[in-house]
Amino acid sequence: MAKRIAILTGGGDCPGLNPAIRGVVLKAVKLGYECVGIQEGWRGMIDAAAKPLFVDDVKEIVGNGGTILGTSRTNPYKKEGGVPKVLETFRKLNLHALVAMGGEDTLGVAAKLFKEHKVNVVGVPKTMDNDLDATDYTFGFDTSATLAMEAAERLVDTGRSHRRIMVLEVMGRHAGWVALFTAIGAGADYVCLPERPVDIKDMVAKLKAAHAKKNVALVIASEAVDIPGEKKEEELDEFGHMILKARGVAERLCKIIETETGIETRSAVIGHMQRGGSPTLFDRILGTRVGVKAAELVHEGKFGNMTALKGDQVVPVSLEAATARLKTVTPEWLALSDDLL
Ligand code: F6P
Repeated sequence: MAKRIAILTGGGDCPGLNPAIRGVVLKAVKLGYECVGIQEGWRGMIDAAAKPLFVDDVKEIVGNGGTILGTSRTNPYKKEGGVPKVLETFRKLNLHALVAMGGEDTLGVAAKLFKEHKVNVVGVPKTMDNDLDATDYTFGFDTSATLAMEAAERLVDTGRSHRRIMVLEVMGRHAGWVALFTAIGAGADYVCLPERPVDIKDMVAKLKAAHAKKNVALVIASEAVDIPGEKKEEELDEFGHMILKARGVAERLCKIIETETGIETRSAVIGHMQRGGSPTLFDRILGTRVGVKAAELVHEGKFGNMTALKGDQVVPVSLEAATARLKTVTPEWLALSDDLL
């Protein structure tokens, strides 16, 4: 009987998950395994919700957004009896290994299950935030930053017609990579990142100067920025992360900018639109490569690892190391941003 590999996708979805699932299944089947899809992340491992995954189920999903397996932010370590249920499901489904695709949270659970219970897990890094350490890039980031860049360019068109300043709020939770790349890619005039508090005086001066030259100015703001003088009251999810849905950073910055510059200002939030849609070529290829590598690591018995992009190579790195800290915007990137914006 063929050994069985389960695949789950956890945390926020992002473009590239389907190519990654496809990569695991196609390679695993070639290596003689059969696959099952765990439904809705760790929730599916707690509830034993699984469906067989055949080659025909994944053959044509390389260009599809979202995840065919569904996802959730369920943390088995925060549920009564969660971990024993995950272990029971592993036995009940007669699994040889589990490939967990996710960000810091999902992979953090995988790392603990490997360390504490010797579960045969392999991690696949995914997050549009690009904030996972130990991999150069995560799939999802390229697509979502590209979408945000295109949205920003549209804002500039309408902003210029009306002689306005435009503010675009993008996702990115604790890391400013999406905002930074969007700002550089769209030629923005100012970027607000969670890595440093907004310098209102500096921002206002730069926006006034840009607007005087071009009749428009563009600000890209990461959803988690700190605006001086504001008190943070955050709701936390099961992994202890801020739920940012109601922060409305762009709108608040918009008011400040309009008051301080005297120039009409409008704001927009791209929000979940940047997580949907077809993955870019980069994300399709990266998703496929890290998926295929995960199946290879299972075959080689290299459990407790994540498939990481290092330069041009996809290599195993320990899940523990990969989830030890968040990758936020580095001083080098901040300096580059200061040179450009
Ligand atoms: O973690 C990825 C992410 O897209 C963040 O950028 C964002 O803050 C969060 O997920 C939104 O989560 P949800 O889909 O649960 O609202």
